[in-house]
Amino acid sequence: MVTANSVRGGQIRMIDLILGKRQGKSHNRQEIDFLVGGIMDGSIPDYQLSAWLMAVCWQGMTLEETAFLTDAMCNSGSVLDLSELGSVVGDKHSTGGVGDKTTLVFVPLLAAAGIPMAKLSGRGLGHTGGTIDKLEAIPGFQVDLKTKDFIEQVKKIGMAIGGQTAELAPADGKIYALRDVTGTVESIPLIAASVMSKKLAAGANLIILDVKCGKGAFMETEEKAKELAATMASVGRLLKRPVLAVVTDMEQPLGFAVGHTVEVIEAIETLKGNGPDDLNELCMELGALALVEAGKASDKEQAQAILKELISSGKALNAFAKLIEAQGGDSRVLTDYSLMPHAKHQKAYLVPGQAGAPKWLEHIDGRKVAEAAKVMGAGRVKKGDPVDLGVGIILQAKCGDALKAGDAAAIINYDTDSQYEAAAAKLAEAFTFVDKAVAKSKLIKASIA
Ligand code: URA
Repeated sequence: MVTANSVRGGQIRMIDLILGKRQGKSHNRQEIDFLVGGIMDGSIPDYQLSAWLMAVCWQGMTLEETAFLTDAMCNSGSVLDLSELGSVVGDKHSTGGVGDKTTLVFVPLLAAAGIPMAKLSGRGLGHTGGTIDKLEAIPGFQVDLKTKDFIEQVKKIGMAIGGQTAELAPADGKIYALRDVTGTVESIPLIAASVMSKKLAAGANLIILDVKCGKGAFMETEEKAKELAATMASVGRLLKRPVLAVVTDMEQPLGFAVGHTVEVIEAIETLKGNGPDDLNELCMELGALALVEAGKASDKEQAQAILKELISSGKALNAFAKLIEAQGGDSRVLTDYSLMPHAKHQKAYLVPGQAGAPKWLEHIDGRKVAEAAKVMGAGRVKKGDPVDLGVGIILQAKCGDALKAGDAAAIINYDTDSQYEAAAAKLAEAFTFVDKAVAKSKLIKASIA
């Protein structure tokens, strides 16, 4: 502990916290509370906080310190009390993936399995899409739920998906804004505290995390992603909230669809049992971990059998219909996709090279695919920008698949020729084709329960 260094005459000073952290010392609870309190009341200037963040990036934090920081950030705003919803309430979080529509499948699937799901989600910013934006492709779907209505809905139908409010863990919002512009995002304790403070403030007591690894993810290597997952699980343990985590590959987008309407359709197809293998596998893995932890199944095999039955019987799809209706949406979209916003045209992006030559898809850069959708208006440049829900990309192959030059590598859903050109140029940078067969990559790298 650096108490001797940072408390002078009983007074904690920010300069001493910076110096102590720069030397690799640890902060105690009182110091972390001072830090978060100072961020909230504005008494710690951005330049000192930035210096401290950079020192953390270099020196790290112990698990205990990370838990103190998480708890203090969690308590910097409102904390939802979901105790009236029962002893197990689930929430799921992904560290951000391209084409990640897992929440749209996972929430109704788990609710159908009898686990109440209280999920707060964000809007897309940067290259990853936001669940809340995707849900708005369903006509009428309301995402701005008052806390009281959010809890009431979970009580009534076993699930709700609402927009994350600024009242939850506001200290994270302030710290994240600075991290974003000071090169201090990629720090395991800072990411762990940021994610976990919001999850804890959102009130669920069964937290299921999907930590992405690979190019375009916060953690590029499997080793780092496992360390982040293990850190969040340990912080959960220290703060007495069970955390389950999987580490998953992000060397390519999840599923085939990247956009809003196209992703909602893919999620619905998954709930109908026709989803892409990787999305299906991820939902089965996360769902099985949750069912075992909640005591609904004795092991993973039994849990997966339950989940498969919920899909094949239509119960999971029915649960999604209930969710849509409860939030004011038009559940006819489940059978009539034309009710959602669509782009005017579809055109293929072709595998380059001499027609007919064999090619194997080695890598799909998710960030570039996301940019292809974004240049057509599917993503935001700045907070508050409107998004075009109809445009999107539908991949026609995944890594390891064999194709021929001239085959469609992706379908682009677009409105204007210039949108198509811009998206095609991005896709040209996204795909890596090779002339010999390559192995398919494994989606799930590790499960931490
Ligand atoms: N997601 C978060 O919520 N916080 C981080 O720091 C990184 C990813």
